[in-house]
Amino acid sequence: MDIVRSVYDWTFQKLPKPKPPHWRRLWMPWGRHAGQAVLSTKTAVTSVLCATCSLNTGPEAASELSYYGRSPPVYPSQLTLSFWEAIGNGTTNAQWAAAYRAARALVSEMTVDELVNITRGFPGPCAGNTGEIPRLGIPSLCFADGPAGIRGQEFVSAFPAGIHLAATWDRELMYQYGRALGREFYGRGINVALGPVAGPLGRVVRGGRNWEGLSNDPYLAGVAMGLVTRGMQDAGVIATPKHWLLNEQEYRRRWVAGEGHAVSSNVGDRTLHELYAFPFMDALREGAGAVMCSYQRANHSYACQNSKLLNGVLKTELGFEGFVVSDWDGQMSGVASANAGLDLVMPGAGFWGEQLAQAVRNGSVAHDRLRDMATRILASWHYLQQEHSFPSKAVYTNLDRHPPIDVQEDHAALIRTIGAAGTVLVKNLNHTLPLRKPRFLCVFGYDATVNPAPWNNRDRYGGGYDVNHGWNTFLNGTLITGGGSGGVTPPYVVSPFQALQERAAKDRAVLRWDFVSDSPTPYPNAEVCLVFLNAYASESFDRPGLRDEWGDRLVSNVAGWCKRTVVVVHSAGVRVVDPWVEHENVTAVVMAGLPGQESGHALVDVLYGEVNPAGKLVYTVAKSEEAYGPLLNSSVPGPDDNPIFPNSDFEEGLFIDYRYFDKLHPRQSRSCSHPPAGELKNKNDDDDDDDPVRFEFGFGLSYTSFSYTNLSISLLTPSPPARIPRPVYIGVPGSGITKVTGDDDTEREGEEDEVWDDAAPVRVLRGFEKVGPLAPGQVREVGMVLRRRDLSVWDVVAQQWRLRRGVYKVWVGASSRDLRLEGRLVI
Ligand code: BGC
Repeated sequence: MDIVRSVYDWTFQKLPKPKPPHWRRLWMPWGRHAGQAVLSTKTAVTSVLCATCSLNTGPEAASELSYYGRSPPVYPSQLTLSFWEAIGNGTTNAQWAAAYRAARALVSEMTVDELVNITRGFPGPCAGNTGEIPRLGIPSLCFADGPAGIRGQEFVSAFPAGIHLAATWDRELMYQYGRALGREFYGRGINVALGPVAGPLGRVVRGGRNWEGLSNDPYLAGVAMGLVTRGMQDAGVIATPKHWLLNEQEYRRRWVAGEGHAVSSNVGDRTLHELYAFPFMDALREGAGAVMCSYQRANHSYACQNSKLLNGVLKTELGFEGFVVSDWDGQMSGVASANAGLDLVMPGAGFWGEQLAQAVRNGSVAHDRLRDMATRILASWHYLQQEHSFPSKAVYTNLDRHPPIDVQEDHAALIRTIGAAGTVLVKNLNHTLPLRKPRFLCVFGYDATVNPAPWNNRDRYGGGYDVNHGWNTFLNGTLITGGGSGGVTPPYVVSPFQALQERAAKDRAVLRWDFVSDSPTPYPNAEVCLVFLNAYASESFDRPGLRDEWGDRLVSNVAGWCKRTVVVVHSAGVRVVDPWVEHENVTAVVMAGLPGQESGHALVDVLYGEVNPAGKLVYTVAKSEEAYGPLLNSSVPGPDDNPIFPNSDFEEGLFIDYRYFDKLHPRQSRSCSHPPAGELKNKNDDDDDDDPVRFEFGFGLSYTSFSYTNLSISLLTPSPPARIPRPVYIGVPGSGITKVTGDDDTEREGEEDEVWDDAAPVRVLRGFEKVGPLAPGQVREVGMVLRRRDLSVWDVVAQQWRLRRGVYKVWVGASSRDLRLEGRLVI
């Protein structure tokens, strides 16, 4: 065990870069074409040596030997335990135990061919369809995207994206979201919903899929992962937390013929646990029935055949009892993936099907391993009780004629509520907002209205990534979702312009608009000008930038004559605002996220004060793109790297987003002397030129102010036995975010100096609660219970979470830098 561990940690932290293979030095100086010629020679040699290799043909045949062992092998089911004793034994709770009993009863009657049949995909109406076994009453299971609504169907809802949900900081809404989503999947007879998403977590600021996930903070994302999973599964649908694990960039996420292997996310054991696996743990605690493994390599081993990640962390350490499904076409080997812990391949047979049957017959894969795969799949099906009266499948292509099968229920109201709750107000001068029945408004920008022809791909609003590929903005229309498999197919889209028209009609106001020009005609009587921008992102490519010139020009031009310019940004992640945010006429800025089908209504609710803005940023908006340093872009092979085996070294460890900025500039992040009515203050008032942060993680204004008093911290169990977690209770009247960290300059006693180390962030989020609505002057007490994991570090030697003795400093505040109360806790 020790050897395994040290190899693993060594992977990232201590190992010298592998020497480039000898052949590479031959071809590098002559550029790509010359290189390819030499590589072909290599390919020929490789094919002779490896006559049976099916994958490694072409340039990818370059030797990967120097990368072997970087991800330690973990094969407990094969080497040490029998099938029945092994991981996946239905011992988590009575419900899993019953599910396993039922699954085993079925599996014991199945032939090898039947077992193989349910571990692979087949063509069918759904994005994924398993094989059926009618004689045993096992149906084909239907899998569909995605995390924010059923993609590609009619009469289904388009919910806000994950990143928008997270910005509500509202646990109740997170659960409601999961449940409403789940009910739609259930209503259409979809057994398995492909979400929620915590991978990517959001390490790379320009990452193409960060918006699908639930923020780049592992605690916030974890809470949301847990509640969404619970909601979905309460509705009877198997949730599929994805993509496990370290799927942090789109560039080279997959093996590409002629280019080489997928990028390898190289990470240390502690970072893996405390950052990237952390949010998945909450979904697993809720009993998630499936997990999707990711495309890329992790410590040089493909994630869907990485035994450390699958057999090791997921199934053994975290006790996952459900099944692992490959990302679509993400399986890269047959025997290796089977033995490493993959249970189901999608969308076809991949390297399995008949070949898996052969591998079982010739002993390359144990029969028990195959039975374990099938048991896990059927156990999840039983766990969700789908064997009883599950609705029949109602999934169609957009060319099928069929009667409407409407599963939207009253979800539009919830979508509107979440849309408004996740809207973040980041600047508000001179009481610009809320709008008080203005009589003359101008509306500008491509994002204010729907694109006149957004349905050239019937499955994807706005054409999805196929149309918008490589774009910074959504092709001339309002952005309500991102692109790719996580994009939604709305029944309708209420654009900001539509909702503003409705409001203007009520108020007898005059509206003027221009969605085309970057320098619209000035109107001297305009009381307020609303300028709409967006920032697009999609699966399959990382963002080319965090702003667009055209949009920036539009804001500056309008602000040149309109004294109350309100900028609204719909964005799939960070959008930098510094080209115009300090302009004196830009008096309000709203980050309106990716709000789903009720976009305009949700926004108008906030703009007109029907809803007090309470959303808070779930990422840091820096003053410039460059300020994100090494975290801005996805990794590309550098001049000294082997382009066939690209790497992304997670050298920053735990320091992403606010943790990165707090480390760089601790001064700005350590004040507890915020003015009491700080909620209304303009961020620019105390601007510090050295500070790269414009709006920090957790920042968001409201139309009122809150004060925070009386922090009390206590241990819930008075004298706990050694090494057993003591839940901690933190109570504070008011609202806020609790952050807990060890700190080096606090008073220490005994072993207390253990509590902080150089790899630990200055502070981390470990609690939040949304409070309200509150009447003026009303006081509410807020309590937060911290779990053992919240206070622990991952001990790479002991391979355990370790709660360290010592002093923990606790802050309560309104954002990661707006810290209002301070206390301490001694363990
Ligand atoms: C995506 C998954 C998705 C699957 C099925 C893949 O390309 O990475 O997130 O669930 O396709 O559509």
